[in-house]
Amino acid sequence: MAQITADSINITVDGELAEAQVGETVLTVCRRMGKDIPTLCHHEGVEPYAACRVCLVEVTAGARQELVPSCQYPVSDGLVIQTDSQAVRDARRVVLELLLARCPKSDVVVDLARRYGVTETPYPTDDPDETCILCGLCVRVCEDVLGVGAIGFADRGIDREVGVPFDEASEVCIGCGACVAVCPTGHVCSIDDGLVRRMETWKTELELEECEVCGRPFATVKQLDHIRGLLPEHVPLNRICPVCRRSQAVQRLSEACSIVVDNLGATAGQDGIENLKSL
Ligand code: SF4
Ligand code: FES
Repeated sequence: MAQITADSINITVDGELAEAQVGETVLTVCRRMGKDIPTLCHHEGVEPYAACRVCLVEVTAGARQELVPSCQYPVSDGLVIQTDSQAVRDARRVVLELLLARCPKSDVVVDLARRYGVTETPYPTDDPDETCILCGLCVRVCEDVLGVGAIGFADRGIDREVGVPFDEASEVCIGCGACVAVCPTGHVCSIDDGLVRRMETWKTELELEECEVCGRPFATVKQLDHIRGLLPEHVPLNRICPVCRRSQAVQRLSEACSIVVDNLGATAGQDGIENLKSL
């Protein structure tokens, strides 16, 4: 539930009164209320871009009523929102027909379309093997979150696509895999092969570094250099994989617990030690 503050405003969602905070989006508030609104181009970690339009809802503000992308639309006092009206369902169906025409084999698109009763599309398909919905998540995470900017949009209209400049191996890609993680359709993929990470979609290969503890390749050299550049000079960069880092943390925690148990035991006597150790 939203905390009531000086910035609290009142809205209505599907006939239910709700508190929201100035600056929140309709999607954030509706999801907090448990509303089922589909999204494809939305990710908490990046600024909304409203590319896919599957999150459309109907809003009424004063005399104005319109369909808006909930992931980007800010709440305002008195706003009335319908998340599942006939107009919303019809609009989402059209959006899904268009997405299905673009990516007829994408499981994510096919499954979502089916949820709205869309199993075929009246629109023409340009490339039956296309799996990119042009949501721009990969571009935004690379540029805005990581500050790398290795990928971008090229061309316009039906030729619009995401990729690396000139469709050649990228000089600036650090191979961090953030684009793989955020891509909603699985269009972006990478493969680790020995000491090489191949960013297949971007035709780029990067050298992997081995964990100082277990020796497993775990991150690219460029990725670690990038992180090094972001850290203050006095903060050391451990070249240790997440698995070893976790096990080191568990080890430290267990050592700290033993010290606490021993100290408590010293004041509780031998019985106390046995009781504490059996916990
Ligand atoms: S590659 Fe994936 S994340 Fe990037 S625009 Fe296409 S669908 Fe979106
Ligand atoms: S999730 Fe809102 S437009 Fe894509």
